[in-house]
Amino acid sequence: MTQSVAITGISRGIGLELAKTYLKQGFTVHGTIRKPNDEVTNLMSGFPDKLHVHQVDVTKPEEVKALGEDIQNTNEAIDVVINNAGALSGYQTKLADLDPAELSSIFDINVNGPLRITQALLPALKKSSNPKLIHVSSKVGSIADNSSGGAYAYRISKTALNMLSKNISLEYPEITSAVMHPGWVQTEMGGEKAPVTPEMSAKGINKVISGLSSKDSGLFFDYEGKQIPW
Ligand SMILES: NC(=O)c1ccc[n+]([C@@H]2O[C@H](COP(=O)([O-])OP(=O)(O)OC[C@H]3O[C@@H](n4cnc5c(N)ncnc54)[C@H](OP(=O)(O)O)[C@@H]3O)[C@@H](O)[C@H]2O)c1
Repeated sequence: MTQSVAITGISRGIGLELAKTYLKQGFTVHGTIRKPNDEVTNLMSGFPDKLHVHQVDVTKPEEVKALGEDIQNTNEAIDVVINNAGALSGYQTKLADLDPAELSSIFDINVNGPLRITQALLPALKKSSNPKLIHVSSKVGSIADNSSGGAYAYRISKTALNMLSKNISLEYPEITSAVMHPGWVQTEMGGEKAPVTPEMSAKGINKVISGLSSKDSGLFFDYEGKQIPW
């Protein structure tokens, strides 16, 4: 049976490569973008029956709700949900530089966004016989791994996202809920100096996800499958 994946933020970077990877494997892909671009349009013409693109800003509840309803109307099961869309705010190194308003705005994208998407897609996810819910977080959200500080708003948002995933794993034991660190990746966010290409990251994430089972729920992995401490 054809498997389905929903991925947020497929306009570029890791999300775009994840979409390509799953499409090549024959998955039906529901991908979200905020506005159309050539890369996604070309991908749609290569996979007209498999790629379904939805216009969603994860900070807009009405757009997320419409996504949930569109998928519900197809009566389709979603086997994998990947909350990938995210943003990096200024790299504040000092507490005094942290503006609460900036923290709230990054929180709305990196935490409330995945929360809204998960709530909207839960009914479709529950229809799968082997549902997997993946949050693309970051190693910088690990408290145990934080030895350098800085990046206050981004770190705090990713730590909160990690807790969201852990809590979901406890409330929904039937869903494999895991957190993924994609590596330091050459994207607009990661910059040119990053050692990992988006292709390497997406292939790694895809492989790790396919190997996940219920015993991995509530855990945090990198794109090579190595477990990261909370
Ligand atoms: N790159 C790294 O080194 C690295 C390291 C650790 C974790 N991560 C995480 O990996 C994920 C993907 O990052 P990336 O490197 O691929 O970043 P990226 O190239 O900056 O892409 C970010 C994606 O998120 C989307 N997005 C941003 N705000 C959104 C919103 N409000 N609603 C919907 N979509 C939104 C963007 O869409 P638009 O094109 O419309 O802006 C884009 O598709 C993020 O969660 C990031 O935190 C990345």
